[in-house]
Parts: sequence; C-alpha cells; structure tokens
Amino acid sequence: MISEIKVQELNAEQFIAEKVKEIRAVVGDGTAINALSGGVDSSVVTMIGHLALGDRLRTVFIQNGLMREGEPEAVARVFKKFGIKVEIIEAQQEFLEALAGITDPEQKREAITQTFYKKVFGRIVKESGAKHLLQGTILTDVDETVAGIKRQHNVFAQLGIDPQEAFGYNIIEPLIRLRKDGVRMTGRAAGLPEEMFNRIPFPGPALAARIIGEVTQEKLDTVRKATAIVEGLLAGRGAFQYMAILHDDRVTGMRDGKRDFGRQIEVRCWDSVDARTATPTRLPFELLESMAAEILKKVPGVVSVTYNIATKPPSTIEAV
Ligand code: XMP
Repeated sequence: MISEIKVQELNAEQFIAEKVKEIRAVVGDGTAINALSGGVDSSVVTMIGHLALGDRLRTVFIQNGLMREGEPEAVARVFKKFGIKVEIIEAQQEFLEALAGITDPEQKREAITQTFYKKVFGRIVKESGAKHLLQGTILTDVDETVAGIKRQHNVFAQLGIDPQEAFGYNIIEPLIRLRKDGVRMTGRAAGLPEEMFNRIPFPGPALAARIIGEVTQEKLDTVRKATAIVEGLLAGRGAFQYMAILHDDRVTGMRDGKRDFGRQIEVRCWDSVDARTATPTRLPFELLESMAAEILKKVPGVVSVTYNIATKPPSTIEAV
C-alpha cells in the first residue's frame, strides 16, 4: 500500500530535496535513463532527475507515432532552455506494427507497454549501460490499474511484475505518492514554466487511448488533426482535460450532394481536481458549434461531431 501525500500536506521544496537524495542513493555513481513524454508527470520527473544526476541522466523522448502534432520538437525546445538535452528516438514503425489488428482496449494498452518497456527501452538501456529508468507514475495510475479499471502503461510492482526480471532494468518512480495537483505544485517549485506544469494531462498510450478499435496510420492522422483543433479552442478556459476521440463505426453523412459514409469525432472536456472523478465542462453552445464546424471543414472524412456529457464514473476520462 503506497501512502498518499495530499496536496494540503505537501511541502514541495522539501519533497524535491528528498527525492533528489533518494535518486542519488539508488543510482550511486551509475547512470539512468529518463522517459520523457512531455506530459506534466514526466516533465516534473525530468526536472527532479536532472537536479539529482545532471549529465548522468540521459533524457529520451520516444516518438511512438502516437503523439500530438509537433510534440517531440516542442518538448525538446522547452527543456533545452534548462540545459537538458532531449534525445528523440524514432520508433513509429515498431508501435504501429505492434498495434496492427488489435481492437481490444486492454490488449492495445498491453501492446504499447511491451513495445515501450521491453523492445524500445530494453534496447536503449542495454546499449547505454544504465541500470535505472526514471518515470512519472502517480498514485492515480496505480489505483486505477490495481482496481482493474485500466491497465495504465506504467504500473508494474503493484501488479506483481518485477521490471528487473521482465525488462532487465530497475524503475524509479519519484512521484508515486502524489496525485496530479501535488505533481503540479512540485513542478512549479522545481522551476518548470507554467505552460508545462499546468499542461493538461496526456496519457502514456497517447492518441491510441483516443482511437476506438484498431489503431492505423489513417485513424491516427484523423484524431491528431481533430486534437489540434479541440486543444486550440479549449486551451485557457480552465478545464482539467479535453480531447478528441475517434469512433470506430461510421455513420451516413452527405458531402457535395453525395452520400458519405464517414467518421465520427467525439469531443470530451472535463472538470476535475485529481482525475478520480470528473464532470463535463458546461461549454457555451456557440463554442461547440464553431468547434464542430472547424473539425468538419478541416479533418477529412469526418461527418459527425458529438460532445460527451457523461460523468466519470461511470465514464472514464479517456475512451480506451
Ligand atoms: P481515465 O481515462 O482512466 O484517466 O479516467 C485518468 C487520468 O489518467 C490519464 N491516463 C493515463 N496516464 N498512463 C498515464 O500516464 C496511462 O496509461 C493513462 N491512461 C489514462 C488520463 O489522461 C486522465 O488524466
């Protein structure tokens, strides 16, 4: 059982100092690899890991082909300002191949987990001689995995999986006692710019968590374009998280006077404090209309746009 540090009792400076000490003690005079996705959690881990190990920490961003538009380059740019070099590792093909033909949500998550930890990181860690991987698992990830709701990509020990045995390296998780609000507070104290510590959460399985059914290049392109539009219109309104989801089934539509059996995009926008429960944001209808118009105009093949008004639970935030 992991004991939670609630945001009310968190002293972020002290927390960072303790984690720096712990990381140094575990890594000793060795080296570690840091898995940065650009999300809030892994960005905060990157800052703490860099404080602890400096150049003995190698920070890599896995381009798994499931990322948002321009994401790897944007993330690398932010960390460059702190003197942290982010190495982008191209692995699109490996992930697409691993996901081919899989439609079950949990199998999709498992395919991503195995490709990420076993294949890609297994290779990088082996080549580099590092023995440790730093990553941003938080308590909500653990809770939902242990409860059997979603197998979060980054949870192992709590499922009885020994990463050393399964993948050949040790995993260090400095944020595991925090929830998202605590992570944000720690990010601010670690000196991350607000655009990073206040970034909306983005899941490890990335856009694959937002494609219902099989993940293909064409579906990725569609959901990526819709995501950019939704994020562009909903940023800065104070919502906890917002996203575009691509449905698997097609519906009859019409375009240029002809039948178009097209794709459906579902928009979700959530109010939440810690992602454990969430309610749909009451967006102005005019905003929903302009979002629909832009998606229908700019995302090829889409003929239907809906807004999800369910709460979590019974919904979850992501669709997969
Ligand atoms: P759900 O969809 O379970 O999501 O309501 C709760 C929060 O967790 C994020 N999420 C993930 N984060 N790895 C992560 O690091 C994952 O596999 C994963 N799945 C969901 C989700 O975006 C939301 O903020």
